[in-house]
Amino acid sequence: MNGLLGYCRQGFEPELAAELGERAAAAGIAGYPRASRDDGYVLFVTGDEADARALDRALPFRDLVFARQKLRLLAELRGIDPKDRLTPLLAALPEGLRVGDLWVEHPDSDAGKPLSGLARSFGNALRPALRKAGVLSAREDARLPRLHVCLLAGDHLLLALADPRDSSPWPLGIPRLKLLPDAPSRSALKLEEAFLALLGPEERERQLKPGMTAADLGAAPGGWTWVLTRHHLRVTSVDNGPLRQHVLDTGLVEHLRADGFHWKPAQPLDWMVCDMVEQPSRVAARMAQWFAEGWCRQAVFNLKLPMKKRWQETRLCLDLFAAQAGKPLTIRARQLYHDREEITVLAMPAG
Ligand SMILES: C[S@@+](CC[C@H](N)C(=O)[O-])C[C@H]1O[C@@H](n2cnc3c(N)ncnc32)[C@H](O)[C@@H]1O
Repeated sequence: MNGLLGYCRQGFEPELAAELGERAAAAGIAGYPRASRDDGYVLFVTGDEADARALDRALPFRDLVFARQKLRLLAELRGIDPKDRLTPLLAALPEGLRVGDLWVEHPDSDAGKPLSGLARSFGNALRPALRKAGVLSAREDARLPRLHVCLLAGDHLLLALADPRDSSPWPLGIPRLKLLPDAPSRSALKLEEAFLALLGPEERERQLKPGMTAADLGAAPGGWTWVLTRHHLRVTSVDNGPLRQHVLDTGLVEHLRADGFHWKPAQPLDWMVCDMVEQPSRVAARMAQWFAEGWCRQAVFNLKLPMKKRWQETRLCLDLFAAQAGKPLTIRARQLYHDREEITVLAMPAG
């Protein structure tokens, strides 16, 4: 079987299927999505391997919104004998394949999670067998593709390849972040993940520097503000609700009780972040105004998704934002692991 395999948040398979379908059509590559509600993954099946490779190139992982991981599918194995999964797996690998790493995974779904123990033990058996067969390098090698085995059931699995430079660096596409005891809210993890997932290491170093200035719109109880202060940014936090005292005690934060849709900074800021719960098109329009007016250089904001037509709304809001921002921006949007019915958008000057 040829095509792409994408992992997603359980329940968001229709959104990922719609996104892959639209992006494949735009790239002129024929195929169809295969998705079932609550599976936690979507296949996009193409005619042949050349089409799958072309689609893989046309859809960089960084540009996908609803995919936690993007892989190129090699094979689907059904009805395998639980007493010997190795033999059919090795037989299904393309001749001459060399990989630099192996990840045995399962979808992040109700049906997939109970397979984590099997994934671990099967990985332990498979690794030496792949080395012996000359498929897996002796040491991890990020210049070679990474082999993914995605267990769907004890007798059913998908084989796929990742380009380590064009995929999530985390197993299952899930960053393991710990909520520190002094984080004011779980939301703090969203901004932390956004900086990790949407900026590269060099961008993070260059663009999040001590002494930079930021606004946090919809800041209470202060999770995002707290993340910004941990990067030693000076933050104006706008919310009618209270901020946790220890966040104010950092000495880096000014709390303004104001409407985040009307407040604007006196001076241009390095960053604006926004977690206000509002209609996504209203948020997108206000965010665009910040860029059009030059009030911030870069931003991270959340767009709450509606109940229906979530992919269409996502595309409309991102298009509206890009059109109204009035300048060339690099825009990256993702439904992060810590996001629920929402997506997170990063915008910064293009180039
Ligand atoms: C999801 S919470 C933000 C959580 C915060 N990011 C954190 O990490 O702790 C949304 C916040 O937006 C605020 N909010 C909603 N509409 C607003 C508006 N028009 N102006 C200012 N704040 C607003 C609410 O008061 C609420 O505190």
